[in-house]
Amino acid sequence: MKLEEIRTALAADLAEATNEAALAVVKARYLGKDGVVTNLRRNVDFSAMTPDERKGFGLAFNELRSLAESELDAVQARLSAAAQPAPAGFDYTLPADDRRLGSIHPIIATQLEIEDIFRSMGFSVFAGDEAVSEFENFDALNIPGDHPARDMQDTFWLENGMVLRTHTSSMQNRAMRQLGVPLRAIFPGRCFRNEALDITHENTFYQLEGLLIDRDVSVANLIAVMRDFLAAVFRRDIEVRLRPGFFPFVEPGFELDFRTTLGGVRRWVELMPCGMVHPQVLRNAGVDPDVYSGFAFGLGLTRLAMLRHGVPDVRLFNKADLRFCQQFPASF
Ligand code: PHE
Repeated sequence: MKLEEIRTALAADLAEATNEAALAVVKARYLGKDGVVTNLRRNVDFSAMTPDERKGFGLAFNELRSLAESELDAVQARLSAAAQPAPAGFDYTLPADDRRLGSIHPIIATQLEIEDIFRSMGFSVFAGDEAVSEFENFDALNIPGDHPARDMQDTFWLENGMVLRTHTSSMQNRAMRQLGVPLRAIFPGRCFRNEALDITHENTFYQLEGLLIDRDVSVANLIAVMRDFLAAVFRRDIEVRLRPGFFPFVEPGFELDFRTTLGGVRRWVELMPCGMVHPQVLRNAGVDPDVYSGFAFGLGLTRLAMLRHGVPDVRLFNKADLRFCQQFPASF
């Protein structure tokens, strides 16, 4: 038989092989020890061929053999799939399961949106660790040894002396060392405090820290960045005000409020603590405060998500209660 004839005959035989036993016979007929394809090579007198003819035969033979193999395999796969019995009572005409896609947790959704806004202002997103050294969480930030936050009662200390970070400010030192200055970065993430839980207190919550270090940075720059940020979040101009606030790692330190309508009333809402980075904090990171200055702010992501969605109880966020989570669209 010629190669072409073998191909046609194989197709016809395969079409008739309607069960695995019949297929095994076809397989033996073509690829078995005494099979049609196998014999093809055995019966050729290579010595009567020119090198080119030999090469041409070899190529055609290999092509036929792999074609036969793959066609046999395809029929085999079809037959064994069909051999699986349908589960009892299975109705193929019913519509497929309505598989639900998960959605993004409202806090993370808020975080991702804010990341985009700051990225558009040239900030990079710096991922941190949740377990940090005592130095990073406290000393680097000018927080003295007798500060109440350092107490066993307020902070989760690990057995190896590290702490579960109590704020994202714990990334300031590392960011300055690793990224160098000038620097614009945000560090979002989970923070932990040993709190008594109630509707406004959780032991696990999210913050988003911002840090900008450059030459000649002033409070005016801080206000401008915050206003641009809020305008992007609320899609309109937002009035802000600063009140004095104390944190050991900023000087001067502020509480930034913004004006909005809540419950039908125009009022000031406390949004975020912020301030000019304390010279000692710069020094602790190897940055010369005579050359560089900067500002830092700490946005309570959990609080912001509560505000924007009107969530009355902070504990709902961590409960993994689907009735709560499913109320939020996958994105906004
Ligand atoms: N880390 C402070 C807190 O958690 C907030 C803060 C950040 C204050 C940056 C000033 C500057 O309370």
